[in-house]
Amino acid sequence: MGSHVPQLDLMRLVQPFGVTIDLAEGTMRSPDKHQVRRASVMRGYYADQEALERLIAERGDPVHYETFEKHVPEEYGHLVFGLTQLQPGVVGEECFMTKGHYHTVAGTSEIYVGLRGQGYMLMKTPPDAQGRSQCVAEPLVRNRLVYVPPYWAHRSVNTGDEPLVALYVYPGEAGHNYGDIETEGFPKRIFKVQGREVIR
Ligand code: PA5
Ligand code: NI
Repeated sequence: MGSHVPQLDLMRLVQPFGVTIDLAEGTMRSPDKHQVRRASVMRGYYADQEALERLIAERGDPVHYETFEKHVPEEYGHLVFGLTQLQPGVVGEECFMTKGHYHTVAGTSEIYVGLRGQGYMLMKTPPDAQGRSQCVAEPLVRNRLVYVPPYWAHRSVNTGDEPLVALYVYPGEAGHNYGDIETEGFPKRIFKVQGREVIR
């Protein structure tokens, strides 16, 4: 009587929970979802396609990156969170990276907190009427939080010698749109040339 608490749908009520995350190592205890992406899923993404084929053949399609999550409903009101771990290395001279995506609900944002390793969050806007996009490379390292605003596609890039690990959080309804990045690509790529980072 007189309560301001909205009617709860008890069937859909999710129980609070905690999860142990080792912030130094970048590992999650007992994840519910473990997604593994091997090098072969990156066909079409790197500038030097032959170098990627050699890597797949010579190293037996090695793990490229992984995500670890606890189960959270992918719907409005929830926050999906997890850890992403991207291996170090180069394809030709281009640093290992994730596929990258826009969110399906384009007006949703995301935060990344760097836990381990050295790299960048590469972000781009959809092309304007002239086909031009803005593109920003924001350092993703330990003790740094990167805000990915609504509408920006995002991809992480590992420029270091150890796995690049980050914690991410985004709205449950966001979804992943990979198709547009598959066709558009990013205007900038990140290379390691004679030990030096080059963004071009
Ligand atoms: O939603 C995110 O941005 C992350 O969880 C990424 O999905 C994760 O880093 C893997 O990258 P991608 O989805 O581009 O393959
Ligand atoms: Ni995202």
